[in-house]
Amino acid sequence: MLEKIKQTADYIRNIIQDTPDFAIVLGSGLGALKHEVDAIHTIDYKDIPNFPQTTVVGHGGKLIYGTLEGKKVLMMSGRFHYYEGHDMNTVTFPFRVFHLLGIKNLIVSNASGGVNPAFRVADIMIITDHINMMPEHPLRGKNLDEFGPRFVDMSEPYSKKMLQVAERVAQDANIDYHKGVYLALQGPTFETPAEYGMVRAVGGDAVGMSTVPEVIVAKHQGMDCFGISIITDVGGPEIAYTVSHDEVLAAADKAMPKVITIVKGLIKNY
Ligand code: HPA
Repeated sequence: MLEKIKQTADYIRNIIQDTPDFAIVLGSGLGALKHEVDAIHTIDYKDIPNFPQTTVVGHGGKLIYGTLEGKKVLMMSGRFHYYEGHDMNTVTFPFRVFHLLGIKNLIVSNASGGVNPAFRVADIMIITDHINMMPEHPLRGKNLDEFGPRFVDMSEPYSKKMLQVAERVAQDANIDYHKGVYLALQGPTFETPAEYGMVRAVGGDAVGMSTVPEVIVAKHQGMDCFGISIITDVGGPEIAYTVSHDEVLAAADKAMPKVITIVKGLIKNY
């Protein structure tokens, strides 16, 4: 595992020849941020040694290195989900590589189902905390001591400082947003009405199928994390809303400009 991570990091370092300030994961339907970056290198996942391959429509498969708002960014266009059949080491492999590349800050985006009754479709939620209800923990197994400790402090999973900067950007741009707790389930089914009710009952504001393993591994390595979610559908125990992948992508497209404004402002001002 360690040898593979090193080999992949060496390959990418040889190409980009620099240390990015931020790694950014472009989640469901948030791909348009890649058009805002001044790309210097674009690398297909299939050309990167040991890199996993994506299987989901709407999730590309490229690492894009370039500048955005005067900062150096490495973007993942296309992430790896547990529901695709990958184990957690595979899901989080790129984040191990990011650490060896010297990247200290992580920005993640995703689509999620809102269970907070105040949330509407195409709202955005800045993630302040998460609940891990995935069936496998990404740090299970022998600890990679070179990356971080066996027992990881999770008192600030999402950076308060990044949150503060992002909130200021959103307020200055007159963008409405929620803050809340993202709860991760494995998917790939969307939730039943009773399951949406459970998510709410245990303290989640939104539910999704990604992000949490990535942030856990990033925190293991001492990275600062920022997460933002587009509410692409809403659910609850009394309401049997239907939801489809197409609706998720449509809502994500609608909210995308707001997310892009916030992320760009955060990168510029952090
Ligand atoms: N549940 C889980 N994942 C999701 C949802 C949802 O309702 N919407 C988008 N991703």
